[in-house]
Amino acid sequence: MDFKLTEEHLMIRDAARDFAKTELLPGVIERDEKQEFPKEQIKKMGELGFLGMMVSPEYGGGGMDSVSYVLAMEEISKIDASASVVMSVNNSLVCWGLDTYGNEDQKQKYLTKLAVGEAIGAFCLSEPEAGSDATSQKTTAIEKDDHYVLNGTKNWITNGSSADFYIVIAQTHPEKKHKGINAFIVEKGWKGFEIGPKEQKLGIRGSDTHSLNFNDVKVPKENRIGEDGFGFKFAMKTLSGGRIGIAAQALGIAAGAYELAREYSKVRKAFGTEIMNHQAIAFKLADMHTSIEAARHLVMKAACDKDNGENYDLSGAMAKLFASKTAMDVTIEAVQVHGGNGYVKEYHVERLMRDAKITQIYEGTSEIQKIVISRSILRD
Ligand code: CAA
Ligand code: FAD
Repeated sequence: MDFKLTEEHLMIRDAARDFAKTELLPGVIERDEKQEFPKEQIKKMGELGFLGMMVSPEYGGGGMDSVSYVLAMEEISKIDASASVVMSVNNSLVCWGLDTYGNEDQKQKYLTKLAVGEAIGAFCLSEPEAGSDATSQKTTAIEKDDHYVLNGTKNWITNGSSADFYIVIAQTHPEKKHKGINAFIVEKGWKGFEIGPKEQKLGIRGSDTHSLNFNDVKVPKENRIGEDGFGFKFAMKTLSGGRIGIAAQALGIAAGAYELAREYSKVRKAFGTEIMNHQAIAFKLADMHTSIEAARHLVMKAACDKDNGENYDLSGAMAKLFASKTAMDVTIEAVQVHGGNGYVKEYHVERLMRDAKITQIYEGTSEIQKIVISRSILRD
């Protein structure tokens, strides 16, 4: 496997790194504390092309490959995982699905705005009784004349109140089970669409997570994505790519914490020497660096598989499983390397540790990744 980056890849990575340092770092602690959505920063990310990186240029996107996307995700996540989850949802779960499976009218009406950050998207699959068990959709979309009538509740929706357009998965033909599920584009403000209160979270506190209620919402037929019954496949295919983005987010959280710990170990003194000279600390840094490199290889492999037109269900799931565990392990050790300072906000590592946990839960828990991986290797 040759992961040699091109000049363009390096430029994109450096641009994301500069943006994260100059625009996201100032205020990241306060936004976390106040659970404040990074509105201005997300607007700038849209202007710089970070919200529609892989979208075809004809719809306003960057036309970039997945390798560019994971490089940018890693850099943004080193500093602000709340901003990177907004980026991830918009790029992988909303823009990619519309670009790949939307029709021309849907692309013109919605994708052109989402790709440049003029609008933000949300992806609504999870429900109170359908999280990991995603085929058990209770939200219904029943056909009536020229529209569908949408009823039900979605849980934990990222960009829940900040989004303009929502991709909503719902059951149209319950007797057909997952083959009766559809995906729809729903606009904020439509009659009967209510946004629940913001969740109070452990980590990624700058991102806004809400439940959504649909009470007899009329969705025009032209807003269904793909053929009747394509919704579950649509969701699964979309999530396969989304998981690569979250793997890159986990990698960035780990790498950000590692870099802080490494630099701290060079300046903090104990027992008459910098703590890096204590082998216990040096070995922690060696372990952190090794796991991060391994995670980076898995993330790059999955991104390359996607770019090369190979199947990436397995490589994406492995990348997410491993990178999210790395994020947890490394951030806990980064706090340890910082001693008491690791436990207070101004040193950043406690936030990264709190942010790391979600990468083992959303877009398929680690247990779900193991289901995907084991089914794939046993079938093959
Ligand atoms: N691509 C295409 N089709 C797929 C697929 C894939 N990657 N994975 C499954 N399918 C298809 C199957 O082929 C099957 O269709 P057919 O019957 O026509 O063959 C259908 O989907 C059902 O598949 P399974 O029988 O495997 O279904 P299952 O009930 O055993 O569940 C699962 C499979 C992988 C566990 C799935 O339910 C799953 O992924 N659950 C986790 C849900 C999840 O990831 N949610 C994330 C929400 S979004 C989010 O979290 C965003 C965020 O935080 C920012
Ligand atoms: P459950 O499915 O109830 O799982 C509980 C536990 O049981 C987990 O440990 C799980 O791994 C385990 N488990 C379940 N089934 C099995 C099995 N078959 N084998 C082994 N173990 C199993 N969803 C969206 O649709 N869109 C979003 O934008 C979104 N954003 C989110 C943001 C945040 C901050 C959070 C917390 C969640 C978000 N989610 C979103 C939902 C997320 O995808 C789900 O929380 C996740 O898929 C798990 O579902 P659940 O919470 O219902 O847990």
